Amino acid sequence: MTEGTPILKVSAIKDGTVLDHIPSQSIFRVLDLLDLQNSENPVTIGINLESKTLRHKGIIKIADRFFADDELGRIALVAPTATVNIIKDYKVVEKKSITLPKTVVGIARCANPMCVTNHQKITTKFTTSIEEKKVKLLCHYCEKTTEFIPL
Ligand code: CTP
Ligand code: ZN
Repeated sequence: MTEGTPILKVSAIKDGTVLDHIPSQSIFRVLDLLDLQNSENPVTIGINLESKTLRHKGIIKIADRFFADDELGRIALVAPTATVNIIKDYKVVEKKSITLPKTVVGIARCANPMCVTNHQKITTKFTTSIEEKKVKLLCHYCEKTTEFIPL
């Protein structure tokens, strides 16, 4: 950063969860996957912030909320580079990396137009794998492999 460039920061939080290093284009999908639009907790969002590792990063700070590991795992579907910081009394007390869940139930749609899940009220179910750094989902019903498509 050149001297004199103003540093714009999203304010620190006292207690809660900071999701950092999210690709900016994935911010809205992460908000959806954690259902943060319907959350009562204060949520602050930064997009296109400077990052050492990503070209532009996004950040989501959720005050007074701590997520279960399986909720955080969903983020790996759209933002595998994300890191999770647990904040207590203004300090980062824990840094977690997120783990891709082995199965994905109900939050993804099968891309196969012939798949039974696109014709009947059936909860979708996929087994995950990583191929060429991309998350792939194998449909439990039609056995087609697709990329993540939100419901
Ligand atoms: N953070 C926050 N509120 C606090 C403390 C930290 O919102 N009270 C945020 C910081 O803005 C940062 C993230 O939590 O985005 C992680 O904080 P820290 O570990 O101090 O930052 P870095 O060293 O830059 O983290 P990393 O090495 O993971 O990039
Ligand atoms: Zn299918």
